[in-house]
This record gives sequence, C-alpha cells and structure tokens, in this order.
Amino acid sequence: MGEIKLKDKVCIVTGATSGMGKAIARAFYEEGGKLVLSGRNEKRGQTLEEELPGSVFVPGDVGNVDDNKKLVDKALSSFGRLDVLSLNAGMLGLGSVVDLPISEWKKTLDVNLSSIFYISKYAIPQLKKDRGGTILINSSIAAFKSFPNHPAYCASKAATLALMRQMAVEYAPEIRVNALCPGPVDTPLIWDSAKAFEDPKTAVENAANTTLLKRLGTPDDVAKLALFLVSEDASWITGTAMTIDGGILNT
Ligand SMILES: NC(=O)c1ccc[n+]([C@@H]2O[C@H](COP(=O)([O-])OP(=O)(O)OC[C@H]3O[C@@H](n4cnc5c(N)ncnc54)[C@H](OP(=O)(O)O)[C@@H]3O)[C@@H](O)[C@H]2O)c1
Repeated sequence: MGEIKLKDKVCIVTGATSGMGKAIARAFYEEGGKLVLSGRNEKRGQTLEEELPGSVFVPGDVGNVDDNKKLVDKALSSFGRLDVLSLNAGMLGLGSVVDLPISEWKKTLDVNLSSIFYISKYAIPQLKKDRGGTILINSSIAAFKSFPNHPAYCASKAATLALMRQMAVEYAPEIRVNALCPGPVDTPLIWDSAKAFEDPKTAVENAANTTLLKRLGTPDDVAKLALFLVSEDASWITGTAMTIDGGILNT
C-alpha cells in the first residue's frame, strides 16, 4: 500500500456540492484530508456531511467577502490549522457583451475571480503560519480559447491565471499556487453552457467528439489531477496552469 497523500491535511474545497468540486472533496477525503466544504445548496451540503463523515459544510456565496472569511475561520475552529485551498465554485454568466446585464457581468467576476482573492487574503497568513500549504484554482480552457456568449466566463477564467501566477511568485517558497484548466467535463455546468451555442442540442456531444480522446472528461479525471497537485508528489510545481482537456486545445 502507498502512503496516505493528505493525512490530517486541512482542506477547504469550494464548489463541493456538485461536479468537480464534489469529486475532489471525495478524493481528498479518501486520502485522509480533513475537509471544510462550501456551496450555497444546504441540502446537498448536508448530504455531503453524511457521505464524508467528519467533514464540515459551511453554506455561503463565494461572491461575498464574509462567506470566504467564514470558511477560513471554520477550518481553524474545527481542525486548528489550514493546508489546502481547492477553489472550484464557478458560474457561466452567459450572454454576449451587448446582451449581458452589467449586474451579471459583475456577479460572474465576483464568483469566478474575486472569490479567489477574498479567500486567499484570509487564508494566506494562516497557510504561512502552518508552514506552507497550497492553493489550487479551478480555471478553464476558456482562459485560452473563446466560446460564444461566454465573455464574462472567458475573461474571469483568464484573470484567475494571472492572479495564480502573481500569488505563486509573491508567496514562494512557502506556498505553492497552481491552476487546473479543464476542457469539457460532464457536470451540470457544461449542459447549462450548451444554450450559448448555435445548436444547443448537439453542443456537448460536439465538444466530446472534438477532443482527441473522443469523450467528455469525468469529475474523477479532474479529481486525480487535483489530488496530485495539492499533494507532496507535486512539491516542485508552482505557478503552473495545467490543462486537462482530452487534447481539445490541440484541435
Ligand atoms: N464542466 C466543465 O466543462 C468545466 C470546464 C472547465 C472549467 N470548469 C470549472 O470547474 C468548476 C466546477 O464546475 P463544474 O463543472 O463542476 O460545475 P457544477 O457541477 O455546476 O458545480 C459548480 C459548483 O459551484 C458552486 N457555486 C456556484 N456559484 C456559487 C456561488 N456563488 N457561491 C458558492 N458556490 C457556488 C455550486 O454550488 P451551489 O449550487 O451549492 O452554490 C457547485 O458546487 C467551475 O469553476 C467551472 O467554471 C468547468
């Protein structure tokens, strides 16, 4: 048997109520992580606490500054330290530049980008105190590639990479900061995004077929990479945006 990769590591996982965040929470749990989990949906949060006993769910909106502070406070009050941030909460904010309401643009930037600044602001002093730790941002291939009716999504995801690199430089060598850039992954979000395309009925299937590997990614595909990047196995990796996309960026 191999070593337990996150034994007693205290991990905050946002977007844990669905999709990739949920798979990541499960993967961290199976490797000994102590989890503080976040999302707005309290019912799904309760189910998570039952599925991953000992984990703590903190309901909240990552677009609110105080809800981010609460997550860090809860990690300390429940487990006494903080080691890992896995930041997955995200929204699409669909609509062309002309059509997208300004309020929706602002909300999308808050949820996808500012939330990372907010939680890092409170978490970094604690990560430093606990002698290191790591931040992993769930960005997207939308940081590199345009999608129709996704202006706020593409802009916010690209900006997360600039923030990731800046923090990697500023807080090295104690704290490693990296990003995942998934391609099309089978979660509720990708099915919602289909309506932004010319032919919504075939958009997801087209995305799967356009990958070199001819399928959508699964949340577990991404969770395996997330586990690697936050574990000691990746102790020489920082400031990196790692694509996991079935090869779609090469098509
Ligand atoms: N699926 C893809 O193809 C794909 C590709 C590249 C990148 N991504 C990124 O991967 C991340 C996870 O998405 P997913 O595909 O796994 O989608 P998902 O299944 O829809 O999950 C999204 C998660 O974000 C949470 N969330 C959304 N808005 C929130 C808010 N304002 N405050 C707190 N939590 C919020 C949701 O929880 P509640 O509803 O409980 O609040 C949910 O847990 C996102 O950042 C997304 O942009 C997805």
